Amino acid sequence: MVTFVQTFHLSYQQKINARSFGPDFLWGVAIAAAQNEGAYNVDGRGLSIWDTFSRRSGKIKGGAKPTEACDFYYRYKDDLMLVKALGFTVFRFSISWSRILPEGMGRVNKEGIAFYHKLIDECLQLGLVPYVTLYHWDLPHELQKNGGWTSHQMLKWFTRFVTVCSEEYGNNVKNWIILNEPMGFTSLGYMLGMHAPGKTGLGNFLPAVHNAALCQAEGGRIVRALVGKANIGTTFSCSEVIPYTQKEDDILAAKRADALLNRLFIEPALGRGYPQEENFPFLEKLHLYNKAWKYTERMKFNFDFIGLQNYFPITVKYNALIPYLHASEVKAATRKVPHTAMGWEINADSFQRMIKRFWLYGGVKEIIVSENGAAFKDELVNGVVDDTQRIDYFQQYIAAMLRAKKEGVNVNGYLAWTLTDNFEWSEGYAARFGLIYLDYKTQLRTIKNSGYWFRDFLRQA
Ligand code: GAL
Repeated sequence: MVTFVQTFHLSYQQKINARSFGPDFLWGVAIAAAQNEGAYNVDGRGLSIWDTFSRRSGKIKGGAKPTEACDFYYRYKDDLMLVKALGFTVFRFSISWSRILPEGMGRVNKEGIAFYHKLIDECLQLGLVPYVTLYHWDLPHELQKNGGWTSHQMLKWFTRFVTVCSEEYGNNVKNWIILNEPMGFTSLGYMLGMHAPGKTGLGNFLPAVHNAALCQAEGGRIVRALVGKANIGTTFSCSEVIPYTQKEDDILAAKRADALLNRLFIEPALGRGYPQEENFPFLEKLHLYNKAWKYTERMKFNFDFIGLQNYFPITVKYNALIPYLHASEVKAATRKVPHTAMGWEINADSFQRMIKRFWLYGGVKEIIVSENGAAFKDELVNGVVDDTQRIDYFQQYIAAMLRAKKEGVNVNGYLAWTLTDNFEWSEGYAARFGLIYLDYKTQLRTIKNSGYWFRDFLRQA
């Protein structure tokens, strides 16, 4: 039986369309170079850590590699037409560092430079506003050989890359995103070894965090200096952390996980230094940097906007066996709550709370939801992908974002993750997040029903 509250909730959701957000709200889709481009060894491109990491056996589901991915390098015109056809006005993509600087430093690759000029020009011709991510996890392999994000040279390397990109594209690109989810690539790539470059342990993680926090702010300063009228942001992953029980141990475990997952990069960016959390020796080494005034200052940057990327909340309980954190997740499936094919809890109210929480920090000027979306087990049947679960997910999350906006949060954009199914990091091609279904054998694109739903939602604006 449907209750009154559910009926109310449903009718409320149905009334929402893009118009509810006002005429200036940005609607777009996001992709990333390593996940979409393919063409890994053409036109002078160097290898990235994802090319080399994916060659190691057992690292990526099904032994998948990003060598061809969605063939976006050759099909970008078709894909941009699809973005346009669905009614989006913003297109977020990232620049492959190793296409621009094949060795990470040194010589610039003209063909790589030319590709992004063509891509940007095509966006502009179609009336799509480009949002360019400078770093979306694909470090040049040559730099990783010298320590990658753990190296004190990182700042110098990143400065060069950001300088080249700003000088090349700054006339046509005004919206810049410095890093994609620094917490994502430092933890998965340098602590847990699940993502490229597959490094583990605090000895890698802590320097990677510190270098990323510095590069995040320094990148902002470089773009500010080189690009006139730039709109500069960076993105943060966020996941509400909920204690499994109200026992003190679980509450403290949740606090530790929260400091790590939600506070580690925004607080330095806002000029507060690294998060201080009692009973959390894990971060002590980073706290030393807080004491040095120059670091607190250098990690700070006055971003024009922050990109929030939220997919799910996590529930944690105390677990003495987990090093440092002493917390582990109680999965959504175990708790028997709705979840996606990734096992991620579907909880739009939590999304609303996280948007509000980041806003309440103070000092954030504007929030753009720079990624949000879901993977489900999509099937192409007679030319149709009937992904009602994804439509439902978007409806719930977008409604939650509107509630946050009505509560006074300055949230001004939403970029769906993602355009086409693509290379989902360690999940390979198994996880499908796209609004458009991709047949990886033929590269045929089929708009899913969620894509059509989005088109209708946007059309009403
Ligand atoms: C984000 C990441 C994206 C995409 C998405 C879905 O963390 O920035 O590249 O993979 O997750 O897992």
